[in-house]
Amino acid sequence: MPVIAVTKERQAGETRVAATPDTVKKLIAAGYSVVVEAGAGAPSSYPDADYAAAGAEMASDPAAAIGKADILFKVRGPVAEEIAALKADAIVVGMLNPHQDKETLQALAAKGVRAFTMEFVPRITRAQVMDVLSSQANLAGYRAVIEAANAYGKVMPMMMTAAGTVAAAKVFVMGAGVAGLQAIATARRLGAVVTATDVRPAAKEQVESLGAKFVAVEDEEFKAAETAAGYAKEMSPEYQAKQAALVSEHIRKQDIVITTALIPGRPAPRLVSAEQAASMRPGSVIVDLAVEQGGNVAGSKRGEVVETEGGVKIVGYANLPGRIAADASALYARNLFAFAGLFLDKEGAFAPDLEDEILKAALVTQGGAVVHPALAG
Ligand code: NAI
Repeated sequence: MPVIAVTKERQAGETRVAATPDTVKKLIAAGYSVVVEAGAGAPSSYPDADYAAAGAEMASDPAAAIGKADILFKVRGPVAEEIAALKADAIVVGMLNPHQDKETLQALAAKGVRAFTMEFVPRITRAQVMDVLSSQANLAGYRAVIEAANAYGKVMPMMMTAAGTVAAAKVFVMGAGVAGLQAIATARRLGAVVTATDVRPAAKEQVESLGAKFVAVEDEEFKAAETAAGYAKEMSPEYQAKQAALVSEHIRKQDIVITTALIPGRPAPRLVSAEQAASMRPGSVIVDLAVEQGGNVAGSKRGEVVETEGGVKIVGYANLPGRIAADASALYARNLFAFAGLFLDKEGAFAPDLEDEILKAALVTQGGAVVHPALAG
């Protein structure tokens, strides 16, 4: 029976775990045996006893878990100690952050193992259940609004009380992909007045269907700004200038700005300048969800809340899904459970089909080398 190991996350600040008692049960039913390092689920509130009850074997240290494993499940890339313990023909699956974390990628290649990175799973219908970018971005969008509400010294909904009326907060969401759409929905549920922008024309209808107003320069470039894969293109300096002028006028009047804009494989676009942040009233809040990819907001700092001289708070927490680790782990673990199905053949035998388009797209190291074309050089 093929063995899956799940260990504690050892990269700084990671609170999620790659399997839950629920997915351990499912993996065992699918034909795997599962070994879990003691304490792996604790930061996400999944106790060891629940893993054991689900049928996992518990291991006291990472080497004991990994030494037996055909497959190692991780949230982030494994650390040196874990890589050293891998069998030569093992498989590693995680969000390896391959564009940025080159060191882990090289170490996995040097070990000779096959590593699959979940960020590269193609967004085809069959792979929707494995789409970690969506499962985690959705939660990040929700949490961004909660963080904004927490940092904001006023309320979100309009309230009419005997002592007077308080106004609803004005929330502007920049980037209306998976995270942005959830941020819009969450801010609306809290009663805020919500507007949003994006460079993809398809986003307009989605924003409006959630009851928010769409704000963007809708010229010819905008109308052609979506790639065949449904992602944003990098916009021309001319478009960016026009959009910045429109957006500047808008940002000035907002209480909360939440930025979620990303371009795959590129640094995050800069959407809020220091001047635009300074134009907001004291007490306003900006949450920069792109802080780990370089940031959408001038002055945002990874892992910190920065207060500007003008009294605007810029929230730059990293790993927002990790701040709701129990649900983030549950969805991520479901994504990995679905992915693990690709390593079994129709009879349930362990036989990874490397011609499968999903495995092919996610494979990053094999045979001692980094093999993914997007990571060449
Ligand atoms: P993402 O995380 O790469 O980017 C977030 C958002 O930022 C995107 O909507 C993008 O257009 C926007 N953005 C980029 N540059 C910008 C700028 N300068 N100004 C304003 N906004 C900017 O994208 P995400 O959230 O992963 O998804 C993008 C699209 O893919 C969406 O349409 C989503 O619905 C679609 N999608 C399709 C799936 C499928 O077919 N299975 C699964 C998940 C998403």
